[in-house]
Amino acid sequence: MQIAFAASECTPFAKTGGLADVVGALPRELVKLGHELSVYLPFYARIRKQFEDEPKVLIRSLTIPFQSYSRFVGVLDGGLLDGVQYYFIDCPELFDRKELYGPSGGEYADNAERFGLFCRAVIEASKQIGVPQIFHVHDWQAALIPVYLRNTYAADPALSGAATVLTIHNAAYQGTFPPRTTEDLLFPWEIFTMEKVEQYDRFNFLKGGVVFSDLLTTVSRKYAEEIQTADFGEHLEGILHKRAKDLRGILNGVDYTQWNPATDGNLAAHYSPENLDGKAACRADLLHAFGLENVAETTPVIGIVSRFATQKGFDIVAQITEQIATRDVVVVALGTHDPYYENLFREWAFRYPDKVAVQIRYDEVLAHKIEAGADMFLMPSRYEPSGLNQMYSLKYGTVPIVRATGGLDDTIEEWDEKKGTGTGFKFAGYGAKDLLAEIDRALEAFNDKTGWRRLMLNCMAQDYSWAEPAKEYVRLYEEAAQRRA
Ligand code: ADP
Ligand code: GLC
Repeated sequence: MQIAFAASECTPFAKTGGLADVVGALPRELVKLGHELSVYLPFYARIRKQFEDEPKVLIRSLTIPFQSYSRFVGVLDGGLLDGVQYYFIDCPELFDRKELYGPSGGEYADNAERFGLFCRAVIEASKQIGVPQIFHVHDWQAALIPVYLRNTYAADPALSGAATVLTIHNAAYQGTFPPRTTEDLLFPWEIFTMEKVEQYDRFNFLKGGVVFSDLLTTVSRKYAEEIQTADFGEHLEGILHKRAKDLRGILNGVDYTQWNPATDGNLAAHYSPENLDGKAACRADLLHAFGLENVAETTPVIGIVSRFATQKGFDIVAQITEQIATRDVVVVALGTHDPYYENLFREWAFRYPDKVAVQIRYDEVLAHKIEAGADMFLMPSRYEPSGLNQMYSLKYGTVPIVRATGGLDDTIEEWDEKKGTGTGFKFAGYGAKDLLAEIDRALEAFNDKTGWRRLMLNCMAQDYSWAEPAKEYVRLYEEAAQRRA
């Protein structure tokens, strides 16, 4: 099949979170299964900087009309990587900026225009480059593609055969804008209703995608159920429940060419289940990177790599920072995004300089070093659609401590020291007491060397490669294409 991905992030070009990992890895896996893949991305400043020479111009000028003006957009050839063809939508006024979405974890004021233009430009570009059988669009930033196709372009015979699949990576980010966005983006006012794109008197990109896509997916089975409830649906639970038959949960995979301690180029040493020795060198290297020398071998290291956002559960960590600091444990954290959580970690590290260290930035090399060098990995998420870090941790024998939600619940099984089964520590209630109790359980388990080794090996034996999820996506694409036909 011919499948075109459209998304706002993709490794190795532009990343703020797991979306980029998924859009980077899944197409390559689909190519292995014999499909033809292209990926459309906005041409951000950070992508431009990765090219020594400007990428080749494929289409010099597409006209994207708005209500009172037009913009002219280029389409660039991003090249072929592992069989996947990349295209960049070039509109310097909108995309040649420092951030992807906005400063300090915020939003640029013209994001409706930026991603509205992106969606329409992908459709226009495909009409010249080749209309795919499937548009697989990701999150709100690409969610208007199905809305355009079934409205603005509904009578266009070149596009009528193209089916659409929307993947929701995070239902909390919906892209909501004032009502006049409807006419700014040249949609008829008829679509600004509760059954279509309107939500609490706002124009809602994600809702539009949910309504107009042929099939919907999200990134774990558990989260597919959760978003149909008021607790997790972010007010879209009604419409999601209405489309329950068309909504599938497909757990994300891991790109083991990037995340494998036996081959990872970012590490001080390599290790594998057959020979764990290298992990000690990774731990020493990690502690050094955080300026924490002289940590006893018997003191476990808890690692954190995270977008510092409310979703990630650090408000309950904030309630027990003192208690954690009284335990025999060291915490190393890497994260950035919301200044509130950045400061929370800064203060924690300031109060306990020998036990807690934090680096506030985005740093891929350090993220790998934490996965390898820590003994435990903490993800106390309030909700977690899939989560990738806990799956990376498994591969690195870095035992996850997680809250039982979404993909965390689907991937981590509670350690049972009597039976020697399980892969981590999992608490259910969203509260500081439950979290602390689970951390204490993990610290206690760490003292039993033999048991801990068993637990590490259990973790490392888990296989979350993309092979199976990719096949599930193919079945879904076939179903979507049949419906369209
Ligand atoms: P989310 O997409 O919700 O942020 P995931 O667990 O799916 O959560 O994916 C997060 C991805 O982003 C992982 O690849 C992780 O290593 C990476 N990441 C998050 N924060 C940072 C950071 N500060 N520096 C480097 N990588 C980071
Ligand atoms: C979102 C979710 C995360 C998921 C990622 C990739 O950012 O928060 O749980 O792993 O998308 O699907």
